[in-house]
Amino acid sequence: MPAPRGARARGFGYPMWMIADLDQLLDRALAVRAPLLARRDLDALRLFNGRADGVDGLVIEKFADVLIVQLHEGRLQVGMSELRRLIEELHARLKTRAVYRKWFVRDRARVSEEHAAEHTRPEPWIGTRVEPQLLIQEYGLKFIIRPYDGFSVGLFLEHRDNRRRIGELSAGRRVLNTFAYTCGFSVAATAGGAVGTASVDLHKRYLEWGKENFGANALDLTAHMFFLSDTFEFYKRALRQGRRYDLIVLDPPTFSRSRRPPRVFVLDEQLEELVTGAVELLDPGGWLLLATNDRGITRERMEAALVSAIPHRPCTLIERPELPPDFAGDPEYSKTLLARYE
Ligand SMILES: C[S@@+](CC[C@H](N)C(=O)[O-])C[C@H]1O[C@@H](n2cnc3c(N)ncnc32)[C@H](O)[C@@H]1O
Repeated sequence: MPAPRGARARGFGYPMWMIADLDQLLDRALAVRAPLLARRDLDALRLFNGRADGVDGLVIEKFADVLIVQLHEGRLQVGMSELRRLIEELHARLKTRAVYRKWFVRDRARVSEEHAAEHTRPEPWIGTRVEPQLLIQEYGLKFIIRPYDGFSVGLFLEHRDNRRRIGELSAGRRVLNTFAYTCGFSVAATAGGAVGTASVDLHKRYLEWGKENFGANALDLTAHMFFLSDTFEFYKRALRQGRRYDLIVLDPPTFSRSRRPPRVFVLDEQLEELVTGAVELLDPGGWLLLATNDRGITRERMEAALVSAIPHRPCTLIERPELPPDFAGDPEYSKTLLARYE
């Protein structure tokens, strides 16, 4: 399949020089992931992590027997024919059914209709068309993946260990999952014994997907609530209604735009306000997991936001979790802190 129209203009790796040791880099990346690939309770992982594995702009993820290849505009410097050869070999080696390609442009707000449509086409780049959704396994949980539903397929793999940790911490707790996306943290919390969860997201279709993820794990929805809301609006309502939580997950995007109310969310400008709002809903002894993939926000700033969220409310930083091994080599990719409040 040729590169989409406009790809050259968008800067997708068309200077046709090659990285000579591409095969070696891929071999090395797979060797690092061998223990994860060998696990029977896990079949979704990142096989190649861009610059950390030696090729900026190239990310390869495996979701059961489907590969998702992300190509990042302006960073990838590999010719498309060379890349296709590499991925075809990987596809044969891992016996996958299909490879779908996602082209990431710098400014997602300016994505054309044609470009967006490329990501919802059922025909893969390589291999044969697969069903619109498949189930992956992650440490005893199942998640629904949609390989051609848009840019994202339904699960952020860098949070695999965080989801497991939230599961471990959730027994008997009331859990709030803000920016919930497809509710991965809520599912992990519920499987771990949470007495109730609240999942908050701006998009109905993600919350519906989240409910289906509960169903995929045979988890009853009775004690679980789904709020179609901006997180700050949810905070106000929850305070008014006297809702309280014992564990809160805060994993916001770097930027987002909501229509009702019209609001632009910029994490860099609102991190402290976001953390304070969460802590106001935490009962004494409550825990907060704060994560971000905003490279501009330092761990020091995150710690300061947690510790000084509410004057005179003591906070202890309990853990500074590292990224899973398939994300190693790029510690700034995503940062997580876990804190407890008196
Ligand atoms: C990076 S994803 C979060 C990933 C999620 N925490 C997980 O572990 O899968 C960002 C999500 O935040 C939602 N979102 C963006 N802005 C929001 C806002 N102001 N309030 C609530 N949700 C928002 C988006 O719809 C999207 O589902």
